[in-house]
Amino acid sequence: MTVAPVEAPPSPPREDKRWRQVDVKIRRLGARPDGLIEVLHTVQEVFGFLDDDALGYVSEALGVPPSRVLGVATFYSHFVRKPQGLHTCVVCMGTACYINGASAIFERLHGTLGIDAGGTTPDGRVSLLRARCLGACSMAPAVVVDDEVHGRMSPDGIEQMLEAL
Ligand code: FES
Repeated sequence: MTVAPVEAPPSPPREDKRWRQVDVKIRRLGARPDGLIEVLHTVQEVFGFLDDDALGYVSEALGVPPSRVLGVATFYSHFVRKPQGLHTCVVCMGTACYINGASAIFERLHGTLGIDAGGTTPDGRVSLLRARCLGACSMAPAVVVDDEVHGRMSPDGIEQMLEAL
């Protein structure tokens, strides 16, 4: 009987104990390519965002080409590539929200916060994101502020909401 050599797991990008949580998840999923999205979720839960080092580590650990890992990390609006602000504001730009004024909401935030989608205010207070559909089309236009969905939003409404945070 031939025993396949056991490969040592790749080294995590940093000496940070939080990587152990990611490694546990990778092992639980059998270190297989089809666990990619779940592992990326875990990395984001643990670190708050997905930087290049983290994507490289996940790519090596799961045997998934780096280009595919980056493709998944940038395709899903849930994944973020930079540290987030204290508060997160996601503006839905899906069809129902778009035709009900989502772009006016986004433009107001872009103007008042001085940042684009994916950006964080220089004081680290608010991150602004865009989503394709939040699954709340009947409440269009919808935004999510700190994980809470707010429907029938207006540019004035979202501005006041962010000021009150
Ligand atoms: S299109 Fe905005 S919630 Fe569906």
